[in-house]
Amino acid sequence: MPADSLAPEQVEPLLSGRFGRPYLYAARCDSTQTALEEQPEGAVAVCEEQTAGRGRLGRPWTAPAGTAVLCSIVLEPPAEREPAELTLVAGLATAEAVERALNLSAQIKWPNDVMVNRRKVAGAIAEASGDGRVIVGIGVNVNQAPEELPADARVAPASLYTIDGTRHERAPLLADLIGTLERLYGRWKEGGLDALYDGLGARDFLRGRRLFVNGTAGIGVAIRRDGRLEVDLDGERRVLESGEVGFER
Ligand code: BTN
Repeated sequence: MPADSLAPEQVEPLLSGRFGRPYLYAARCDSTQTALEEQPEGAVAVCEEQTAGRGRLGRPWTAPAGTAVLCSIVLEPPAEREPAELTLVAGLATAEAVERALNLSAQIKWPNDVMVNRRKVAGAIAEASGDGRVIVGIGVNVNQAPEELPADARVAPASLYTIDGTRHERAPLLADLIGTLERLYGRWKEGGLDALYDGLGARDFLRGRRLFVNGTAGIGVAIRRDGRLEVDLDGERRVLESGEVGFER
């Protein structure tokens, strides 16, 4: 398959909602997270390649040019909602879009990893910009070959290509992701995580799984309806707000 493109002429005709307007596209940028200054809700930034892609907890996010979906979206959540929950909303939208592209089920490893076959295919972050807006960033590994995936990743990585052996067109995947995020975000604004809990709970990767938190072994209980993660560590129930959870592969 020739290199596909996420240029506006490929993606904009596939958008049917409010999100994705304006659609800011660049072949190369530092990070799509920093390309949306003063843009309104629904604006989307997309790059074919990032030179300073940001992952969660200050980690880098890397992908060879033209192989991944790298996008950020401006949201203006209502004051009564908890902005940190948007990581889960974005993760759920990404999991649903990845499922449709692969025809396989995807899970969410709390708080932000999208998993297929116990490997991470995508990640999401939500960063408050200080003016009431939240910039949600999503990276999906689409057409990377095995040697193009990060060798030092904390969670074993995969791309849609390494999962099913098929090169995937990125434009329809991105358009589906933007539309799905708009739909789920609308439901979240109305009813919070409760309104998305069916989809979230059904895709809870850590539920019942042996895990580690800061070196202590335990079992995942569930993503709670308030977005926190309940775990059983050495027989003691704990509720995590954020942080890093390892798991046995
Ligand atoms: C993670 O799993 O650590 C979150 C990764 C988020 C990466 C995406 S790629 C598009 C957007 N721009 C960035 O710099 N980061 C996010």
